[in-house]
Amino acid sequence: MTRFSLFPEQASTIAARTDALLFFLLAVSAFFVLLIAGLILYFMIRYRRRSDAEIPPAIHGSLALEGAWTVIPFLISLVFFFWGASIFASLTRPPDDALQVNVVGKQWMWKLQHMNGRREINELHIPVGRPVRLTMTSEDVIHSFFVPAFRTKQDAVPGRYTWTWFQATKPGTYHLFCAEYCGTLHSGMIGSIVAMEQAAFQAWLAGSTGELSAVTPVIAGERLFESAGCSSCHRAAPDARGPSLAGLFGRTVKLRGGGTIVADEAYVRESIFAPAAKVVDGFEPIMPTFKGLLSEEDVMQLIAYLKSLDTRADAGGRGQ
Ligand code: CUA
Repeated sequence: MTRFSLFPEQASTIAARTDALLFFLLAVSAFFVLLIAGLILYFMIRYRRRSDAEIPPAIHGSLALEGAWTVIPFLISLVFFFWGASIFASLTRPPDDALQVNVVGKQWMWKLQHMNGRREINELHIPVGRPVRLTMTSEDVIHSFFVPAFRTKQDAVPGRYTWTWFQATKPGTYHLFCAEYCGTLHSGMIGSIVAMEQAAFQAWLAGSTGELSAVTPVIAGERLFESAGCSSCHRAAPDARGPSLAGLFGRTVKLRGGGTIVADEAYVRESIFAPAAKVVDGFEPIMPTFKGLLSEEDVMQLIAYLKSLDTRADAGGRGQ
């Protein structure tokens, strides 16, 4: 019963750009549909057979004509491509100052956690005017995090991380849908994004509703690092069985058997669940898998902890 509109509200920095491209595509398509349909009608009448004896002249083709109908659509599709690619590039590169939020999809809910530890289910509070970066995964099947008002849709895929980001432009409550069929209650896997003014968001984040003494992911990760036994091998000591992890995050790591890799979220996650996949140069592949022992959310806490470890604490690493 509310006001009807063909398009969802535009509530993120990318929304207007996405819509502009869509309208351009629609306009170009409409132009050619009308042009071609019009020409068909015109030719039908203009070149109709006027008498039974009429023999039309033979046609011998035209290089200019063929060139034109090849080059013009090619140029138009290049416009589509570069326009789309530039939006895609913006969509996939979150600004460095983005607020981090962890997202785990499961049948049939969204579990979200802010970096101060505050958790939410099927609801995400964010500040207006600040980029928010989501690191996402799934505990079971593929889900898709869809916020129409932000023009944001990104799959959450089991066994790997995916990322997306957005920046809300106005306060409000926006739909959050699961946009990938994920089982019986897929249609019920819905929620909302609550965009708030900065001050209201800070108050909410520090607020007393929900979990009172939220443990930050960094602290939770540090505890797990001890309790899961990571610390017994990954010590900053010359005889440690595993590489020291201090200052690891974001660094390029040399691998056993050659090659390098940047230690990002995906690499750390893989090293926990499939430790033999990429072993650090100078170490034996002796680490056991933590699959089944640590949940996706646990791993996200461990990553938060690793990110927090200061580079300068790396002095005791194996080196040489
Ligand atoms: Cu989750 Cu559909």
